[in-house]
Amino acid sequence: MNFHTRKWVKPEDLNPNGTLFGGSLLRWIDEEAAIYAIVQLGNQRVVTKYISEINFVSASRQGDIIELGITATEFGRTSITLTCEVRNKITRKSILTVEKMVFVNLGEDGLPAPHGRTEIKYVKDQFKEDEAVE
Ligand SMILES: CC(C)(COP(=O)(O)OP(=O)(O)OC[C@H]1O[C@@H](n2cnc3c(N)ncnc32)[C@H](O)[C@@H]1OP(=O)(O)O)[C@@H](O)C(=O)NCCC(=O)NCCS
Repeated sequence: MNFHTRKWVKPEDLNPNGTLFGGSLLRWIDEEAAIYAIVQLGNQRVVTKYISEINFVSASRQGDIIELGITATEFGRTSITLTCEVRNKITRKSILTVEKMVFVNLGEDGLPAPHGRTEIKYVKDQFKEDEAVE
């Protein structure tokens, strides 16, 4: 799993208990996963379809640096399934896990459209392809 994005937990991200507010974390994850799906499917029109149980494994506090990890586990016909973990960047302690997030690839008509992808595409391979094309 690649941990691309880091976040710095700030006062505005906290709940009344003084720890990271779950809603802030979910917003970050949904955006991170959407970007991942867009990049993998090569289409900006993707929407969140399904999110499985969310396990808030441990609390995060103001000043913590956390990192968001996403990886694709399944490529369907019009969907892509991702799994997600958020952990403390310094201690590597797990903060949240989501086993399954499903995004659907849409066509211009807003309906599910086949994406034609079957496996994870890595940036280094995309650059290689671009070079080969030129
Ligand atoms: C996304 C949407 C267009 C899909 O419509 P739909 O009628 O469910 O479409 P389909 O039944 O053709 O399913 C599309 C894909 O989603 C998958 N899917 C549908 N329901 C699912 C569920 N509950 N869990 C997991 N996958 C599901 C299907 O298996 C299919 O994948 P596949 O083609 O890879 O096999 C529609 O549900 C929608 O607009 N939802 C709202 C999306 C949204 O607003 N999200 C929040 C903001 S981003």
